[in-house]
Amino acid sequence: MEPKIIIGVAGCGAMGSGIAQVAASAGHQVIVLDTNGSALDKSRSNIAKDYEKLVTKGKLTREKAQVLLGLISFTENVADFAECGLVIEAIVEILDVKKELFRQIENVVNVNCIIATNTSSLPVVAVASSCIERSRVIGIHFFNPATILPLVEIIPSFTSGETVVVKAREIINSWGKTTVLAKDTPGFIVNRIARPYYGEAIKMYEEGIADIATIDWAMKTFGGFKMGPFELMDFIGNDINFKVTETVWEQMFYDPRYRPSLTQKRLYEAGFFGRKSGRGYYNYSEGVSAPGAVENHPKGNYIFERILAMLINEAVDALYLKIASRNDIELAMTKGVNYPKGLLQWADDIGIHKVLEILEKLMNDYNDDRYRPSLLLKKMVAEKRSFFS
Ligand code: NAI
Repeated sequence: MEPKIIIGVAGCGAMGSGIAQVAASAGHQVIVLDTNGSALDKSRSNIAKDYEKLVTKGKLTREKAQVLLGLISFTENVADFAECGLVIEAIVEILDVKKELFRQIENVVNVNCIIATNTSSLPVVAVASSCIERSRVIGIHFFNPATILPLVEIIPSFTSGETVVVKAREIINSWGKTTVLAKDTPGFIVNRIARPYYGEAIKMYEEGIADIATIDWAMKTFGGFKMGPFELMDFIGNDINFKVTETVWEQMFYDPRYRPSLTQKRLYEAGFFGRKSGRGYYNYSEGVSAPGAVENHPKGNYIFERILAMLINEAVDALYLKIASRNDIELAMTKGVNYPKGLLQWADDIGIHKVLEILEKLMNDYNDDRYRPSLLLKKMVAEKRSFFS
């Protein structure tokens, strides 16, 4: 058997550490690079703790955990990537810093090495632009926590080579991940289609349609979502969630569909990031109990249907614009953000005409382009088509 390629991981924050652990668990030798020595120490101890948890749960023997941990080495020197077959970059989300690192990596690796970025919001093609051989650069986007969430978006830029795409996908599949192919467009699949889950929930809260606890209750009760929008934003972090929304909106040339909200911006400015800071939409301080939802709220079903229609519209438009295939759109939302059902299947189940009706009513009421239905949705209703049958 051919020896497994060596994997390089640049940046050992939340994402880099998780990716390194996934690669080691798949049997690769892994080299983790960071410019910050104490971040490297923290990463090593976090990975060790995570393996220890698996030992305690009986999912891994102590001997095996030692072997896996022994596969990972830590360095502050980019030259140590010299023998890598794949390097995945997960450093700070700043284009110029990433470009400089890509230039340095390309200088030390061999010609066959694939260099990937885990960026959430920067164009892959822009990150690749500092490389001489741009065909070797691709987006490989994991979800947080990378050790748990199965989805990985593979994003070829228009300068990526075809064999690079195939090879990168093969490697990540061999790690037991579910890969989907996405166009190099803002938010790729998941972070684009999911925007209304947050944005429309906040808008309804701002309009006084219901309070946050009731909106969360409605999405869980009527939609079967595991977490309501406000709980989820507090979990993700309002700093991260707000920045993703803002970036997608800016990169979409200020399309009102992706417009951020002042409510979340103010939370972000206040440092109310959510669980990690003790306060977000909810207050997580000890002794403070969560506000109760108004169960059986007369608008409960309306709230759910309005958010769902907006989500479906995004999924349909992504399909129309060939951001991804029908099946990959479904996989992305169920495996990347745990939606109870694929959105296109959901459209079939409740009736595509009903989704269109909801959007047209909103469009009529608000006279805001935010609610414009996708052309594909209109065509499908006119032709009485459905997505899966
Ligand atoms: P983080 O802030 O936790 O970690 C970044 C690490 O990169 C730090 O340890 C820092 O010392 C290191 N670093 C900075 N400049 C460096 C350089 N020039 N060379 C080597 N190391 C350097 O960041 P996080 O959250 O892990 O995100 C990393 C990347 O992954 C970003 O591009 C982000 O957009 C993306 N991402 C983040 C997700 C999340 O939920 N946090 C989800 C998916 C992608």
